[in-house]
Amino acid sequence: MLMQEGKAITFTSNLPNTLAASEEDSAILEILGGQRLSGHVTISGAKNSALVLMAGALLCPQECRLRNVPSLVDVGRMGEILRALGVKLERQGDCLTLNASSIGESRAPYELVSQLRASFFVIGPLLARLGVARVPLPGGCAIGARPVDLHVRGLQAMGAEVQIDHGMVNAYVRGASKRLKGAKIYLDYPSVGATETLMMAATLADGETIIENAAQEPEVADLANFCRAMGAKIWGAGTNTITISGVPSLYSTDYSIIPDRIEAGTFLVAGAITCSEISLSPVVPDHLTAVIAKLQAVGAQVITEAPHRLRLIPSDRNRATDIETLPYPGFPTDMQAQFMALLALSEGNSVITETVFENRLRHVAELNRMGANIRLKGCNAIIQGVPMLSGAPVVATDLRASAALVLAGLAANGKTTIQGLHHLDRGYEQLETKLQKLGARLQRVKVSSDSSKDPALKT
Ligand code: EPZ
Repeated sequence: MLMQEGKAITFTSNLPNTLAASEEDSAILEILGGQRLSGHVTISGAKNSALVLMAGALLCPQECRLRNVPSLVDVGRMGEILRALGVKLERQGDCLTLNASSIGESRAPYELVSQLRASFFVIGPLLARLGVARVPLPGGCAIGARPVDLHVRGLQAMGAEVQIDHGMVNAYVRGASKRLKGAKIYLDYPSVGATETLMMAATLADGETIIENAAQEPEVADLANFCRAMGAKIWGAGTNTITISGVPSLYSTDYSIIPDRIEAGTFLVAGAITCSEISLSPVVPDHLTAVIAKLQAVGAQVITEAPHRLRLIPSDRNRATDIETLPYPGFPTDMQAQFMALLALSEGNSVITETVFENRLRHVAELNRMGANIRLKGCNAIIQGVPMLSGAPVVATDLRASAALVLAGLAANGKTTIQGLHHLDRGYEQLETKLQKLGARLQRVKVSSDSSKDPALKT
């Protein structure tokens, strides 16, 4: 329970706590593979929308409500960062009320920012609202160096002075109005984060901003829709050119976040890899076009049963296919690891090329521990499909790698144990419970205690 001025703050009533990774990893996941799944799974709100929309609420001097907010460690951490900046937050179920009317603090605390890269998203709204922002450099993470040069260059083009000093990004706007100016910005790479930072900053800027070679991800469009619901003037979000006409201020809104396309994609692969027929909703099928195309390429069928409901009909024997990760609408890098698990068990040779992040193939070694036959060549993984994986103790190295190991464990022969669950909890809401409801045999056990309560899992 978080305390402020001696009073309890009702913020993260049912959010997983945001303990440091080491404290949290006192549990492992045990999976007994080879079970067919069946039934329906409910998809949660999108993590990568929730995080940036929570930061976007900083733009508004009135109370805002976000609905369909997933219960995730990362959401809890973003909440703590916003609280440190003076935002009042209240959570009831999947509904989050944010009140940034009296933010005064422009400095985001390092100890919180260091735990969540996405916290860098606060720099745009703080600069736009207060004319000053001091945010620690997020630094690299397991999947890559992840610089923020495109964010900084865009803010400078809008008139901000930016100094990076002692690991801190200090940004401020000169002049009495302290207001950013509209600008034409060409992004060297369609970065999701940079597009979102600059779009938020431009909503309160003086004049028009045009972002060219912008990211087109659905989460970018969701952020634009949220900002528009608060009165912002934004056109073209979801395309590679976004135009924003700055307004003096924004107003209160009540907005529902889109479903998580990556969680949905992960469950579709869970069906394909276990040769199981399952359905899932709510989803926006258009957000999954590249993923569905690759599922069809391996031989599965994906049917749109209703506007926001998909059914996966598996193939008896998945075929090989090649994948190259690209910015949206290309194949999402956040689905690369999950498809690697699927292709490891498919007939023939596949090549996966990771072009977005320079260090996002660390799950290969763990999948090979389970009997996969994958070789690495630079940013390519050359996969020779095998008939069967065997359960083994493995370690998750990042969020999507952890999901891939869960999927491999569901299909493998025997028991798999997965360590590093703090990665999984960052981005999947109640994954075990949802999989158990589909008939999977898995459970989270504390490593200290007698590790298995299910006799069938005792070996
Ligand atoms: C977002 O990260 C997502 N995170 C990532 O999801 C996702 O993988 C990524 O977009 C790509 O789709 C959130 O939305 C919170 P980028 P982001 O800026 O914004 C380089 C997950 O698993 N780059 O599009 O950080 C960068 O290094 C996470 O849910 C620069 O060089 O991604 C990378 O190679 C992981 N300079 C590439 O662009 C910059 O200033 C793509 O990064 C910014 C980025």
